[in-house]
Amino acid sequence: MDKHIQEVREFKRTLVFTGALRAAHWLRAAAITVLLISGFYLAWPFLVAPENSDVLVQGWIRFGHLIAGFLLCAVTAVRTYLFFFSRYDVERRSVRDLFSLKSWIAQLKSYFWIGQLKKAGVYGPLQLLVYTGIAVASIFICITGLTLYAQVYHLGMGGMLSDFAAWITSVMGGLASVRLWHHYVAWVFIVFLVLHIYMAVWTGIRFKHNSVEVIVSGYDYHRH
Ligand code: HEM
Repeated sequence: MDKHIQEVREFKRTLVFTGALRAAHWLRAAAITVLLISGFYLAWPFLVAPENSDVLVQGWIRFGHLIAGFLLCAVTAVRTYLFFFSRYDVERRSVRDLFSLKSWIAQLKSYFWIGQLKKAGVYGPLQLLVYTGIAVASIFICITGLTLYAQVYHLGMGGMLSDFAAWITSVMGGLASVRLWHHYVAWVFIVFLVLHIYMAVWTGIRFKHNSVEVIVSGYDYHRH
């Protein structure tokens, strides 16, 4: 038999991420990319001269920001639900490692090329902690985004949210600080994206398991 075919047969295939988790990942990735680009444009609308009365560019970019923003709100809600209540418990199993000092030490050592990373679920403890942080940042940026939205759109959903938005605005000390914090937290996503992509590629090379591939096809191919 051809040597390469034989080698391929020695690999085991394991399902890591279901279709729902993969869809949520890529919808979030797309929404965050659009939100970062459009958000920073909204903060500094360099295409329109200050004295110009043509604000259509700003309007369309704000429209794109809101569409992607509502998408992020929806995916964040579904994703939070799935983490806690999905029948597939590959993510929840990682919580055990988060509270185990042994798992933390094993993970940190494995980053220095000492030993292997043995995990109860799909994530290592540091990874789960960072993802939890990103989930909290997503909820925060959705709440502040909806608060900014409700200031301008008083009908429909904006109207429904108006009491909640007024409460958030007063808790945060005014609309200017809601806007500022929405802007600051945008940077959390930039820092995360750089580290996340680097770590996804590095993990695949370091541990010889599929890493980027699992979030595309759902499957990890590895030796027995
Ligand atoms: C990763 C997610 C997000 C990022 C990176 C982001 C980024 C930004 C940035 C940088 C600004 C400009 C703030 C400034 O004026 O300095 C902004 C404004 C705004 N964002 Fe977001 N945002 C996100 C999510 C959302 C969500 C979920 C919503 C609501 C559904 C939202 C609604 C708004 C609104 C209404 C404004 C004000 C627009 C204006 O002043 O015309 N954003 N966003």
